[in-house]
Amino acid sequence: MTQRDRSSGTGIDPAAYSVAGFEDFRRRAADPRLSPHEKSGFPDLYREGRGGTILNDILAKMPPLCERGRRVLDIGPGSSSLPMAVIEHCIRQQHSLVMVDSAEMLALLPDHAAITKIAGAFPAALPAVQKSGAGFDAILVYSVAQYVFAEGNLWSFVDLAAGLLNPGGTLLIGDLPNASMRKRFLASAAGREHHRRHVDPNNDPVVDFNLAEPGQINDAVVFAILQRMRLAGFDAFVLPQAPELPQASRREDILIRRP
Ligand SMILES: C[S@@+](CC[C@H](N)C(=O)[O-])C[C@H]1O[C@@H](n2cnc3c(N)ncnc32)[C@H](O)[C@@H]1O
Repeated sequence: MTQRDRSSGTGIDPAAYSVAGFEDFRRRAADPRLSPHEKSGFPDLYREGRGGTILNDILAKMPPLCERGRRVLDIGPGSSSLPMAVIEHCIRQQHSLVMVDSAEMLALLPDHAAITKIAGAFPAALPAVQKSGAGFDAILVYSVAQYVFAEGNLWSFVDLAAGLLNPGGTLLIGDLPNASMRKRFLASAAGREHHRRHVDPNNDPVVDFNLAEPGQINDAVVFAILQRMRLAGFDAFVLPQAPELPQASRREDILIRRP
């Protein structure tokens, strides 16, 4: 997010909520001044009461989640309304749910016989994940990959997560902030209107193309993940978010499926 357009879609400045990685989230999880959404790095307006809407978009993309009695892995669940909706859904569908995040973040989530909590960062937590049982039918990595991209090795993260899929299983790397998509939006009439409504009523956004974007996911990263996964024997697709999601104009999802 540049100084030129700091709009979050609701007029909130996301920089006020910026986090750099796993350790920052761990500290936020333990900070009693923050709401459950803020602990997960979101302004309340993005997530308060929206867990069900986001989950519906995820369910439409991940058929195994809609079945019964499946093994589900949520890497980086955080503590917002989304993991609460995921937990309720998994209990209702009699899934077994494994969640991997910091101990501080996991402590904010309810305990249940269907839930196994594994404290640690993925893929360092891989041995414990593997020990929890055979492969997984649905793996959710939602609004997490951008932090792994910035501070870790997204390639081994994705390789190792996809390697946990059962045949027919799906991995959703969701809510990817794509800097190229954001620029396309801001350069459009809709983006200019959005900018004038939420950021600066007097000026159009300044959008710079042909720039290096250290630490940011862009089209190059999205398409490289698709190609890498396909070459590794998976089906892989990039999918839009439902328009009612708070950042659908600049975020998209990658779906990986083991044939
Ligand atoms: C922006 S929050 C997203 C939370 C949740 N998935 C959602 O969309 O509401 C990112 C979460 O990923 C966790 N996280 C970051 N890197 C991780 C990693 N390498 N392994 C597991 N969790 C990670 C953070 O601790 C945080 O809880």
